[in-house]
Amino acid sequence: RMLKRQMECRNDIHRLNAAFLAIYQSLIPPEEERAKQYQLLALLEKLVCKEWPEARLYLYGSCANSFGVSKSDIDVCLAINEDINKSEILLKLADILQSDNLQNVQALTRARVPIVKLMDPGTGISCDICINNVLAVVNTKLLRDYAKIDGRLRQLAFIVKHWAKSRGVNETYQGTLSSYAYVLMCIHFLQQRRPAILPCLQGMETTYSVTVDDIECAYFDQVEKLRNFGSANKETVAQLVWAFFNYWAYGHDYANSVISVRTGSIISKREKDWTRRIGNDRHLICIEDPFETSHDLGRVVDKFSIRVLREEFERAADIMQYDPNPCVTLFEPY
Ligand code: CTP
Ligand code: MG
Repeated sequence: RMLKRQMECRNDIHRLNAAFLAIYQSLIPPEEERAKQYQLLALLEKLVCKEWPEARLYLYGSCANSFGVSKSDIDVCLAINEDINKSEILLKLADILQSDNLQNVQALTRARVPIVKLMDPGTGISCDICINNVLAVVNTKLLRDYAKIDGRLRQLAFIVKHWAKSRGVNETYQGTLSSYAYVLMCIHFLQQRRPAILPCLQGMETTYSVTVDDIECAYFDQVEKLRNFGSANKETVAQLVWAFFNYWAYGHDYANSVISVRTGSIISKREKDWTRRIGNDRHLICIEDPFETSHDLGRVVDKFSIRVLREEFERAADIMQYDPNPCVTLFEPY
């Protein structure tokens, strides 16, 4: 009977993993979406270069970091070497785009990251354009390079992002975390796994290096050489989802710890002087940006939203532990 139960249990784990993989598959954008994104980028490039011939457009965010689900908006960075201020460029840009049939063109010059928003009726894609946010282009490459090392990162991050959106905890304006923060949490988690599933690219020999806004961004980017890095670890995505939520529900030391993809480990809040509230930065959950190391991606979290977040982590961990059908319950709308 013991053997029978063990076999049933193994079957369940197998079935659960297949269910998570099916969800992951269903979220992957189809190839024609990418083609449409590039079509829109080409149109924008043409319009922008008429006005600023030396300007360049870069994709960043989920359309370029490989963590984008189907039907995402695209994030574009306009890199331009002019001294006029950002607001003027954005207003001019909005003007140019407006007159070329693009819809809902809006310049948000007073946002924390000022942007122009638009919708392209040709492709149906919405797009945000920011100016000279080169650091975001570089951290997009870092995330994309991590994703190439082990397929389980993309699987885990898709599930976590899907969970966060379903549960309403992917809203920075409400004090919960950005998609970017969740992906960093996943990378950190896989770096910490034993055996490790991901290396620490910034701790290795430098093969790629740029300096942006006085910040040196350097890491090992020859990731095709690291394809077997995680192979000693046989965990499946279902096990990793369970362990991820368990870590954030019951394993993380919120009072003292900062997660750091840059170092591939945990560092102390004391070391970063993130122990007290300074201005609006409360440091209730600490996620160090890999390049802008003074930036805590948890800084949007306040004393109310930290409770919401931690209750959601606990809910998810408990569902993974006890629920007979976690693949449904986990993503139930809140
Ligand atoms: N970014 C950043 N610092 C932040 C938030 C975002 O540098 N505090 C940059 C990152 O390059 C990130 C991009 O902005 O990839 C877009 O952020 P976000 O919308 O959080 O992530 P996406 O990956 O675009 O996710 P989604 O699919 O939800 O749009
Ligand atoms: Mg985005």
